[in-house]
Amino acid sequence: MAQTKLNIEPSRIPRHVAIIMDGNGRWAKKRGLPRLAGHRQGVENLRQIIKACVEFGIQYLTVYAFSTENWGRPEDELRGLKQIFNDAFSNELEELIKNGVRILHIGQRDEISPDLLQKIDRAVEISKTNDKLILTVALNYGSRNEIMHAVRKIVASGIPPEEVTEQVISDSLFTAGTPDPDLVIRTSGEQRLSNFLLWQSAYSEWVFPEAYWPDYNREELIKSLEEYAKRDRRFGKLSSK
Ligand code: IPE
Ligand code: IPE
Ligand code: MG
Repeated sequence: MAQTKLNIEPSRIPRHVAIIMDGNGRWAKKRGLPRLAGHRQGVENLRQIIKACVEFGIQYLTVYAFSTENWGRPEDELRGLKQIFNDAFSNELEELIKNGVRILHIGQRDEISPDLLQKIDRAVEISKTNDKLILTVALNYGSRNEIMHAVRKIVASGIPPEEVTEQVISDSLFTAGTPDPDLVIRTSGEQRLSNFLLWQSAYSEWVFPEAYWPDYNREELIKSLEEYAKRDRRFGKLSSK
């Protein structure tokens, strides 16, 4: 089947897309499958979406894989997720490197198991000279936790209060060095932030497609990008049109 072409002028392509990959559990339930089958399919889907982002010239992709609140899930789901993350960081790495993807991690490192952390660190290290797409994986990430750590860092640095600027705060977050997201996509029809990039998405455009994450394919991404291209981003000023 011929693939739909993306028909958006390059200046209207978001530089940074962030995705709350939601709906894996419901996708599985609808098919009578265990929730973990949905999470596994979610990883498959991410591979396709990463490829499409490279194809469309998106420079930064940030994906929400596991929140600080997700620890409240049942033990067997947590165990399964850990396995899936371990597998993903082992099995997907080669193709990501081949496609020129650089991998970054954001989130609280402490609670991540040492074996997974080692794989994450290795992926970050061996992809560090790639620049086709910067893929940031938010794993054990919570925005409030991130802001708390930033405050601790700033206080510990001894910087005088009047020198704490918005830039200093941005530079103290896990996302330091990455531009704010232009477009945030939350799949599965839910319309909330769930502790994702609170500071960074202050002026992002948001879309809430109905598709569950494993069904959110290239066509769906094109629809989201078309929707974004129509938006008039004013940043509090008046329209430039
Ligand atoms: C998102 O899918 C993946 C994670 C939070 C790890 P969910 O697991 O939240 O799927 P639903 O929302 O229950 O369908
Ligand atoms: C947000 O989804 C976290 C991830 C997608 C990793 P959740 O499914 O955990 O969020 P809530 O509980 O519906 O807000
Ligand atoms: Mg969910």
